[in-house]
Amino acid sequence: MAACGFSSIVVRRARLSDLESIYRIEVECFGEDAFPKSYIRWFIEENSFITLVALLDDKIIGFIAGLLEVFMGRRAGHVYSIDVKPEYRGRGVGSRLLEAIEDELRRCGAEICYLEARVDNVVALNLYFKHDYRIIERLKNYYGFGRDGVRLIKNLVIE
Ligand SMILES: CC(C)(COP(=O)(O)OP(=O)(O)OC[C@H]1O[C@@H](n2cnc3c(N)ncnc32)[C@H](O)[C@@H]1OP(=O)(O)O)[C@@H](O)C(=O)NCCC(=O)NCCS
Repeated sequence: MAACGFSSIVVRRARLSDLESIYRIEVECFGEDAFPKSYIRWFIEENSFITLVALLDDKIIGFIAGLLEVFMGRRAGHVYSIDVKPEYRGRGVGSRLLEAIEDELRRCGAEICYLEARVDNVVALNLYFKHDYRIIERLKNYYGFGRDGVRLIKNLVIE
């Protein structure tokens, strides 16, 4: 696991009582492109979702949400969102969340994890490359007209 700049960070499963905090972070990170609150509720309540929060001194500073699916014929985790509050970025929280969901996905039998990112989201792409994700396809207009994405994938098991 990557060293995290905060020694006292705690990562745990999200609860319904975290909904407002998670939604505020999602809006802070993505503005009008944020997932609606009803989706965040779905991330927390739906059994096939793994939604984790990172806490510092009992305050939620980031979250990650992924769904257990079948992708390319294999049991897969699909990460829908990973957000860290701006003032806590660059100190390992994103890495900690990504590693934590990968551990949970493995425990649930997932063999691969995949996700999407905007082609111009250099910070997110760097995070994923650092964690051994590789681009498998470009997604034309995935985030709206003229806003392309890429899909990335990682093996969670040693083959
Ligand atoms: C992407 C995000 C989750 C990363 O969280 P974070 O806590 O800052 O990430 P970490 O501190 O664990 O950094 C991990 C790696 O990401 C990359 N990274 C982090 N900040 C970076 C920056 N400012 N510039 C370039 N790369 C950066 C680096 O590769 C870094 O590894 P390093 O520290 O060894 O150089 C965070 O920036 C964020 O919430 N962004 C807004 C929401 C978003 O875009 N989510 C992804 C959608 S696909």
